[in-house]
Amino acid sequence: MKKRYLLAPGPTPVPESTLLAMASPIIHHRTPQFSAIFKEAAGLLRYVFQTEEDVIMLAASGTGAMEASITNLFSPGDEVVAVNGGKFGERWGKLSEAYGLKVHWLQVEWGKAVEAGAVKKLLDKNPGIKGVLTQASETSTTVAHPVKEIAALTRDRDCLTIVDGITAVGVFDVPMDSWGIDVLVSGSQKAFMLPPGLAFISLSKKAWKFRESSKCPRFYFDLAKERKNLGKDTTAYTPAVSLITGLKESLRLIKEEGLEKVFARHDRLARAARAASLALGLKLLAPESPSNAATGIYVPDGVDGEKLVKFIRDEMGVTLAGGQDHLKGRILRIAHLGFTDTFDIIIAVSAIEMALHKFGHKVKFGSGVAAAEEILKEGYR
Ligand SMILES: Cc1ncc(COP(=O)(O)O)c(C=O)c1O
Repeated sequence: MKKRYLLAPGPTPVPESTLLAMASPIIHHRTPQFSAIFKEAAGLLRYVFQTEEDVIMLAASGTGAMEASITNLFSPGDEVVAVNGGKFGERWGKLSEAYGLKVHWLQVEWGKAVEAGAVKKLLDKNPGIKGVLTQASETSTTVAHPVKEIAALTRDRDCLTIVDGITAVGVFDVPMDSWGIDVLVSGSQKAFMLPPGLAFISLSKKAWKFRESSKCPRFYFDLAKERKNLGKDTTAYTPAVSLITGLKESLRLIKEEGLEKVFARHDRLARAARAASLALGLKLLAPESPSNAATGIYVPDGVDGEKLVKFIRDEMGVTLAGGQDHLKGRILRIAHLGFTDTFDIIIAVSAIEMALHKFGHKVKFGSGVAAAEEILKEGYR
């Protein structure tokens, strides 16, 4: 027998009550019964997105909502900035290029956050830029970008701030309306504590105006069509009925805990993971602007990070994440978003200590765990 622990930055664990809700017998989607579930979920999504606007649910992974942002708001030839500080920033740029947009690539060193000043410089120099595409949490580098400052830069320009909040919404504070974010995107398999398969997207009034003149080709991800249907408590096409049934339960759990407490929990877990890493003498990937979704840690010199992550997963039963691209084999990432709590961090840190020892690295057993406990004891749940 092997007990398994899922501590990767998505998919994340799913609470029992959500699993049970999804196991309910399937119901037809064009019924008052489903519409009631859908309506409740749509209302709770607005709470989590901190917006008065509609939050549209798409049957897609998060990238589907990213694609919908591009195809619904821009036209071929439009200029956008892609904040490229990791795999997902790169995705914004590639997606835009796939639809014929002209991309100003804003390169950011992996592990660092973009400087709002660099975005301003680009916008000042190129007044035709119509959108700034960024992550709130760049999962591949475990960095949080300064979304509030970026949104302030586009507020009075003919330009949108488009935020991939896939590992940020429900993790830390990204209040869409009060920060003036024009598009906020997320996905089910992260802080929403659901399996993969749903993407969420909300547009500001300014973004809906852009929708009117956008000429990119689109069909399935037609946000105006979805919004019209949302107004009638339904979707344009067959919705992911079971996932939406689960979503209603996960959102109820978030509401019950309260967003502030949800953010505080993620903050406590993230600080504990960072403290544990430092206590083990391991360097953090993003020491200056870390995301509370996941903690990236450099593995010690001489240790193969890929083999380490594989060993921890296959021999110890704990799924962490490794690095991507040039960070492959050099880092590991402990995720602490969604249905995670105090003892998930203890498990992750303890597994890392034991695995490092196994790989020949000198470890004082319990030193990482002790550092984590010093922070985790601020509250147990
Ligand atoms: C920040 C970020 N953006 C985009 C994605 C892509 O989402 P998906 O795999 O759901 O399409 C992910 C997935 O890990 C992510 O973490």
